Amino acid sequence: MPDFPPLKNDLILRVARGESTKRTPVWMMRQAGRYLPEYQKVRSKHEFFDVVGTPELAAEVTIQPIDRFDLDAAIIFSDILVIPQALGLEVQMVKGKGPHFPEPLRSPSDMSRLTEEPDVDEELGHVYDALTLTRHELDGRVPLIGFSGAPWTLMAYMIEGGGSKNYKRARAWLYEAPDAAHSLLQQTTDVIVDYLIGQVRAGAQMLQVFDSWAGLFGPQTFRTFALPYLKQIAERVKKECPDVPMVVFAKGAHYALEDLVETEYEIIGLDWTMDPKAARLVVGERATLQGNLDPCTLYGDGETIRRAVQDMLAGFGSHRHIANLGHGMHPDHDPEHARIFVDSVHEVSEQMRGV
Ligand code: CP3
Repeated sequence: MPDFPPLKNDLILRVARGESTKRTPVWMMRQAGRYLPEYQKVRSKHEFFDVVGTPELAAEVTIQPIDRFDLDAAIIFSDILVIPQALGLEVQMVKGKGPHFPEPLRSPSDMSRLTEEPDVDEELGHVYDALTLTRHELDGRVPLIGFSGAPWTLMAYMIEGGGSKNYKRARAWLYEAPDAAHSLLQQTTDVIVDYLIGQVRAGAQMLQVFDSWAGLFGPQTFRTFALPYLKQIAERVKKECPDVPMVVFAKGAHYALEDLVETEYEIIGLDWTMDPKAARLVVGERATLQGNLDPCTLYGDGETIRRAVQDMLAGFGSHRHIANLGHGMHPDHDPEHARIFVDSVHEVSEQMRGV
């Protein structure tokens, strides 16, 4: 393990473990990105995947929001689609459109085009280098989060070839070719496990698994095609890295809360459609909850944002909660409204504890 600077703010790690803290820690999904002019400046000179692939640039944009706001964690600048790349698929980032796979998996026979057992260290070593460099450059200001896409979300992108209205092709596989679907999910899971362990070795202090398209499932398909792999990831990563907290963010999977509490993830990320109070009632103190302000709240004025933060914090309570948005920042968000969100979490959560 490289010799990293000592951590000065460990709030988020302590809340993950269930300890009490003087206030609620806060970070924002997609906190590094296009809503920040300093990010746009870097992107005007470099392509998206060049930023991801160049450790100095990835470190720079990872730290940009930390310099600007009083956040309690940094998340490494990369993308969930580096795993399909490691599996041998080409992924382009098209301006104004998002990710595009020129040759997606159109039928199960296309799986033969995937690299069977990719050398993850070789393929994704640039992310590890970015993590190590960022950890040094952060100088212990806040913990550094590593991440991966979940098997189903990555499968959905690999089959659809990009964003899609209803992900019909990917969902059709579950019924037309369930064996092929399981085999693809398992192959992806194996890469994700290696990748997350590699990220911890490189310097990640917390891990998040993004299942952005879990909401396309119902309870039964979730239990068949998502949950077993999500569980496997946590179990296998925990065997190697028992002390690193793990977040599962299964967007839209409101029906799966009880299932997720039973897994080894100590943090469950919630999107904004869930009621904090109701979620706390189900989960109690068995897990830390993360979330879940509607990102569109940030289009409102300062008073609107503050009130929404108050409601959210009151709903989750002052124990075992990490404040976040219920999904990522939007490119047209005003950075000053992000600041109001972060500062409001500080103020309100300290008030709640009578600090
Ligand atoms: O600050 C951070 O959160 C770290 C970096 C990060 C990015 N993508 C950078 C990015 C993270 C954690 C992600 C995860 C990601 N990527 C997810 C899961 C989270 C979610 O939103 O559900 C998904 C589904 C993707 C796939 C992806 N990448 C899409 C759909 C898009 C295009 C849509 C969009 O927001 O533009 C991307 C591109 C992308 N990833 C950008 C950034 C900053 C914008 C690209 C640009 O700079 O032009």
